[in-house]
Amino acid sequence: MEVVIVPDAKAGGELIAEAMAALVRRKPDALLGVATGSTPLPIYEALAAKVAAGAVDASRARICQLDEYVGLPVGHPESYRSVVLREVVEPLGLSEASFMGPDGSAEDVQAACEAYDKALAEAGGVDLQLLGIGTDGHIGFNEPCSSLASRTRIKTLTEQTRVDNARFFDGDIEQVPHHVITQGIGTILEARHLVLLATGEGKADAVAATVEGPVASVVPASALQLHPHATVVVDEAAASKLKLADYFRHTYANKPSWQGL
Ligand code: GLP
Repeated sequence: MEVVIVPDAKAGGELIAEAMAALVRRKPDALLGVATGSTPLPIYEALAAKVAAGAVDASRARICQLDEYVGLPVGHPESYRSVVLREVVEPLGLSEASFMGPDGSAEDVQAACEAYDKALAEAGGVDLQLLGIGTDGHIGFNEPCSSLASRTRIKTLTEQTRVDNARFFDGDIEQVPHHVITQGIGTILEARHLVLLATGEGKADAVAATVEGPVASVVPASALQLHPHATVVVDEAAASKLKLADYFRHTYANKPSWQGL
């Protein structure tokens, strides 16, 4: 995998937004998989700024969601559907029709999961999937010990993830759903390019285990090692526990090979 160390979150956002813009210039109807959480927000801001400045025409781009809470009322501001519409789809000037995600309010959740995997395949597959990382190494909502071959399915959140995400629910862990739908790790690995952004010291252990540890389901993000085109963008703080940091700086910092691909 390519590990690009950037000075800070803003630089990471700008770098990834430019890679997304380059993809959309090349393939105007690209299917862009987006992630939630705080980390990717600088990417969305930078990409929206490029669209507003006329640097890229994203009007035909399509957006798909990585995961979703189960059981939140339709339209809940913290459902990932609402978050992606608010943070990505609207700022890019896209319509809801260009957006797809799993139905977290479906009566038959299993059927909704299968339908989502099918819809992604029928849409031609994800061109670029953005990922954040949980402090425990999860991607999407694939918690530790998720099958590396898993498909979109229902999962139960760990206590740690519910604690981490309580800040989006007035700091009240009781409001954080226990169940979620997430693209499986096998589903995520089908995207043509995986781009993981991690910033801040709190992610340093998870990043080191992802990049330099063995491929193991106990660190779900380590599955990126199995992908032929995975890029990990980290700020200095998130890179602080990488033994090979200097090698990565030397190899990728000035001209990441994935830029413009
Ligand atoms: C949630 C999301 C993940 C995200 C993670 C980290 O668990 N399901 O996709 O990567 O949060 O969020 P943050 O970037 O806010 O640390």
